[in-house]
Amino acid sequence: MNQFDKFFAGGAISIEKGFFAWSQDEPPILKDINIEIKPGKLVAVVGQVGAGKSSLISAILGEMEKLGGKVNSNGKIAYIPQQAWIQNCSLRNNIMFGKAYNESVYNKVINACALKPDLAMLPGGDSTEIGEKVMGIRLCLIVFARSNQKMHVIHRVST
Ligand SMILES: Nc1ncnc2c1ncn2[C@@H]1O[C@H](COP(=O)(O)OP(=O)(O)OP(=O)(O)O)[C@@H](O)[C@H]1O
Ligand SMILES: [Mg+2]
Repeated sequence: MNQFDKFFAGGAISIEKGFFAWSQDEPPILKDINIEIKPGKLVAVVGQVGAGKSSLISAILGEMEKLGGKVNSNGKIAYIPQQAWIQNCSLRNNIMFGKAYNESVYNKVINACALKPDLAMLPGGDSTEIGEKVMGIRLCLIVFARSNQKMHVIHRVST
């Protein structure tokens, strides 16, 4: 089986009989979790406040104590946190975030993230310095554009 077949053979993310706690000596917050997310699928996790939605993402990212079960993920994970943040620098630098600039990839990302109208509105285009003034959905779109990786775990993109 080559690497490509391997990637599509299993779920992009899977948890089998997962038990997770926020520390070793606490009872598990997530119990008997079984999920399989196939490549290319868009999955939304909904639930009441405190139900464990953020914890589930932390479990996938390996940030919780695993008390039992198996977690697998293929490919890269880009995590967009509930509280997105940007630096006080240009819009382009906030998207590139240290990565080498490639015009065609960059333009694809700008289009995919619906940021073109924003660039047109800004006095200096994507060289405009942006900072704490950017909020809500626009902030999410910029952070989403930053994470142009293979796989996305998107955390509450809301206004
Ligand atoms: N970083 C953390 N460290 C310790 N405990 C945490 C952490 N994050 C969440 N918890 C606890 O995990 C439980 C589930 O909360 P979680 O934040 O996962 O719920 P949620 O479904 O994301 O809620 P919300 O709708 O408010 O975002 C709560 O008891 C919460 O206090
Ligand atoms: Mg949450």
